[in-house]
Amino acid sequence: MLTRKKFPLHADLENVLVTEQAIRRRVKRLGADIAAAYGDSEITVIAIINGAILFTADLLREIPNPIRLDCIRIASYRNDTKSRSQPQLLQSLSLDIGGRHVLLIDDILDTAKTLSLVAKMIGKLNPASLRTCVLLDKRGRREVEFEADFVGFQIPDKFVVGYGLDFAERYRNLPCIGVLKSTLQNPPEWA
Ligand code: IMP
Ligand code: MG
Repeated sequence: MLTRKKFPLHADLENVLVTEQAIRRRVKRLGADIAAAYGDSEITVIAIINGAILFTADLLREIPNPIRLDCIRIASYRNDTKSRSQPQLLQSLSLDIGGRHVLLIDDILDTAKTLSLVAKMIGKLNPASLRTCVLLDKRGRREVEFEADFVGFQIPDKFVVGYGLDFAERYRNLPCIGVLKSTLQNPPEWA
């Protein structure tokens, strides 16, 4: 019989903030809320990669509407836990979004520089509507005024990893969301 392999990455967490089970339940609920908001309309989903990959993959399977999916790549962080002053667009859209109902998905709203920049870019392309959805919201850290239409969890001002969120591209595959041990956040070689 196959047994589930343990995640040794768990040992790098100070504590678990959101369990795998809580994520599953909340994603189901969010999917239902989104479906209700859009009625029968087709949705053009734009996921901000890499962070939103796991969340988007699970969320879309809870939304029965017709969906078109595109991804956009933005760099907000390097190998550290502090936001860049200005997010950089690394890979642009390939779908047309003029006249479409667009749902922009990201893993987390922190300073909101990233989502407000992308929302502004998309707004210029004349979508029929634009809504935003994030799994996590660190409301206390805003530098730009911005609220998402759909939010999974409000979390405190801690650097978190797992379920798509990374530190230096690691930990995205953790099934839960946890606070990374502070001793691991700024190793001397990256300082
Ligand atoms: P913002 O532009 O400051 O809102 O940052 C948003 C981006 O920063 C997200 O898409 C994440 O990639 C990254 N980010 C912000 N907070 C965290 C965190 O606690 N863990 C991992 N990535 C984070
Ligand atoms: Mg990101």
